[in-house]
Amino acid sequence: MVKIIAEIIGEMDLEPALTDLEGLARRAGTILAAGYEKDHQIDFKGEIDLVTEIDRRSEAFLVGEIGRRFPGHRVLAEESGGEDGGRNQWYIDPLDGTVNYAHGVPFFCVSIAYAVDGRLTLAAVYDPLRDELFTAESGRGAWLNGRPLQVSLQTELSRSLLVTGFPYDIRKKAQNNLDHFGRFVMLSQGVRRLGSAALDLCYVAAGRFEGYWELALQPWDLAAGALVAREAGAMVTTIQGDPRLLSPPYSVLAAAPGVHGAMRSELRSSR
Ligand code: IPD
Ligand code: CA
Ligand code: CA
Repeated sequence: MVKIIAEIIGEMDLEPALTDLEGLARRAGTILAAGYEKDHQIDFKGEIDLVTEIDRRSEAFLVGEIGRRFPGHRVLAEESGGEDGGRNQWYIDPLDGTVNYAHGVPFFCVSIAYAVDGRLTLAAVYDPLRDELFTAESGRGAWLNGRPLQVSLQTELSRSLLVTGFPYDIRKKAQNNLDHFGRFVMLSQGVRRLGSAALDLCYVAAGRFEGYWELALQPWDLAAGALVAREAGAMVTTIQGDPRLLSPPYSVLAAAPGVHGAMRSELRSSR
């Protein structure tokens, strides 16, 4: 009997609402805030790639809640893996900005995205220290704490503030982004490296940055922030200019429409 009920529930089309993602992001954010500036149990996934017990605690909460409330949905999450490509697909980064977090630098967030048949439909990115909740719903807009977001109207690269990131395997990679970084520093008003891809994308959405690029990411880093940026009016593509972000190799170029073309040309010519 229990099995039959579970099967029926599994086949039901349970669709989350944006309020579901908002609630999940706020509750996971509380976990991050509670653990901030405490001593951490740090494990190394690579030479400079860290994970703390708080990444795992936040992820266990999110994966558990989604599994309980939306049985049958697929979840791809950074620390526990999971599956991609489902009809009802979630992308979870339980703590984006782990290196900042582990060092006590106050710039990190939780990132949650939901996609249907490969199309991103809902997103929530929460920065618990600033109490900034970035959300988006496809075709309806993007918001910061409920206020609509609008990307920058800037059209000059030389007046644009940019942000980027570097991969954890930077010491081994030929394409390490330092060439692009050097060029954009000379061509723009400045280039920041803040350490959270999801917040970088949301800051483009908010018009705080004109553009963000990063060469090697994972779907959980970019899915939610990409929808927030897109819904705020940003052009969001791969580095190659492809709007399909959720298939490998994962990279991102998110920028105000007035500077996306110039950034794209620079990325092409400094390759
Ligand atoms: C990292 C951050 C960083 C970016 C890296 C990501 P993590 O995610 O978003 O800004 O440059 O590529 O892996 O490890 O803090 O979740
Ligand atoms: Ca991440
Ligand atoms: Ca992470």
